[in-house]
Amino acid sequence: MRILVLGSAAGGGFPQWNCNCEVCRAARADDGRAVARTQSSIAVSADGERWALFNASPDMRQQINDNPALHPRVGARHSPISSVVLTNADVDHVAGLLTLRERQPLALYASARVHGALDANPIFKVLNPDFVERRPLPVECAQELCDRDGMGIGLSVEAFAVPGKVALYLENPEAGANFGTAEGDTIGLCVRQTGSDNAFFYIPGCAALDPPLTARLKGADLVLFDGTLYRDQEMVSGGLSPKTGQRMGHISMSGPGGSISAFSGLLVDRRVFIHINNSNPVLLEHSPERQEVERAGWEIAVDGQEIEI
Ligand code: MLT
Ligand code: MN
Ligand code: ZN
Repeated sequence: MRILVLGSAAGGGFPQWNCNCEVCRAARADDGRAVARTQSSIAVSADGERWALFNASPDMRQQINDNPALHPRVGARHSPISSVVLTNADVDHVAGLLTLRERQPLALYASARVHGALDANPIFKVLNPDFVERRPLPVECAQELCDRDGMGIGLSVEAFAVPGKVALYLENPEAGANFGTAEGDTIGLCVRQTGSDNAFFYIPGCAALDPPLTARLKGADLVLFDGTLYRDQEMVSGGLSPKTGQRMGHISMSGPGGSISAFSGLLVDRRVFIHINNSNPVLLEHSPERQEVERAGWEIAVDGQEIEI
């Protein structure tokens, strides 16, 4: 099974268009201190021929152009992308669906909540239903991924609810502390090569490692995990935003409740941070924070990275 990191940055990408923080400035300087990154998405294939996208980022067009495995190669119109799986309805995970229009057969998998968000927005009708089939992704139920014609592509996914928050543009300020978040707004995925033990976890958005998630991840071979912020307060203290990581529905890397500490006893073989926000100092190649996460056994994903399991 091949995993291609199409985009390793969080919403806004790195550098973000309007951000003048130290980390974004380093990416713009292009002097070796930091590598620019596009927004959150991976592609996975069992056979190298048929690919499933996991999340569809606003940078989708560039990501396809940058990855030859995703280029058309048969006939007048073709794409190796046969299916798309969504983990939430955030802008950085669904806006790229608009790039995938033009009468291309696709199967689109998402939770009922995420399908509801797409169904409620008529712009997504550009994905012509004659070509794009929207399919349910129930939790706790392993499901084979199939192309539009119902042919398996050699991958199965099991979705599970993780602590998180409804998409920013769907927040209900009257709904109290969780803004109207419901089950299915944020899911994690276990992706398995059909008929084998090859499997990994993809969890690009997560607010906490609760006991069920901790139990699920114990002993995993590979986890690609939410690396949005290093410190919960970093956007506030940097003058970038009034929001903490917790307010945005993201666990931070550092601190007592952070992901580094939560994973420390979990015996996960390979741990990769993905969905990294432009404010996160781990994006600076030689920062103390980068050294800290690497010392703890974590990798920082980068666009174009390929993982084979
Ligand atoms: C998030 O990951 O919190 C969202 O992508 C934020 C956003 O919608 O920009
Ligand atoms: Mn995001
Ligand atoms: Zn920035």
